[in-house]
Amino acid sequence: MKYFLDSAKIDEIREAYDTFGIDGVTTNPNHIMNSGKPFKEVLKEMIAFVKEKGIEGYEKFPISVEINPHLDDTEEMVKMGREISGMCPNFVIKIPCTEAGIAAARILEKEGIRTNVTLVFSPSQAILPAKNGSLFVSPFIGWKENSGEDCVQYIQDIVTIYENYGYETEIICAAVRNGKQFVDCAVAGADIVTAGLQVFKDSMYHPFTDYGIAKFQKAWDNTVTD
Ligand code: E4P
Repeated sequence: MKYFLDSAKIDEIREAYDTFGIDGVTTNPNHIMNSGKPFKEVLKEMIAFVKEKGIEGYEKFPISVEINPHLDDTEEMVKMGREISGMCPNFVIKIPCTEAGIAAARILEKEGIRTNVTLVFSPSQAILPAKNGSLFVSPFIGWKENSGEDCVQYIQDIVTIYENYGYETEIICAAVRNGKQFVDCAVAGADIVTAGLQVFKDSMYHPFTDYGIAKFQKAWDNTVTD
């Protein structure tokens, strides 16, 4: 399973890449706003980052960039998708799972511009983007579980549907909030999880690891090691 960082902050992207070897990045308008920087400046920082690391191209390090969420016309969505895609070969165009969005993603994929159909909340929403050849589909986990829904079956169903029909679209489980959800996604066979930096850190922590280190330090100190 691949790990993507869900952030538009370049210092977080750098840390997650250098420390955890993340495989890609997902952003959304909320993350861009939280970076405190203008949209185009954030994109420029990402372009410089992939050049610096020698990971140019979406095959090596995909960065999902969402189109203006006010757009609801297919042609306008396609136009903005083309503009963003033209800026960097790492950019994958993130488009909401609406009728206009699905149509726009289909057009962009036919042109060779890779897409990530986002804001997916049911298996039925995940079928058409895959049938149309989108690179990624992003079913959200955290928002649903916060509202009391269990997401294990939902992800398993999307995995099964894609296997049944040989769809190559990769499933990015999005808005992942904790280690339990990482495990649920991995057990279900999701291709990718995307989460914030703190979620990665929390998922790798266990107090018994610290307890074990302290215990072994004591043993080491009471042993002749020379
Ligand atoms: C996924 O691609 C989205 O960017 C993301 O997970 C949205 O959810 P959040 O901002 O609530 O984490």
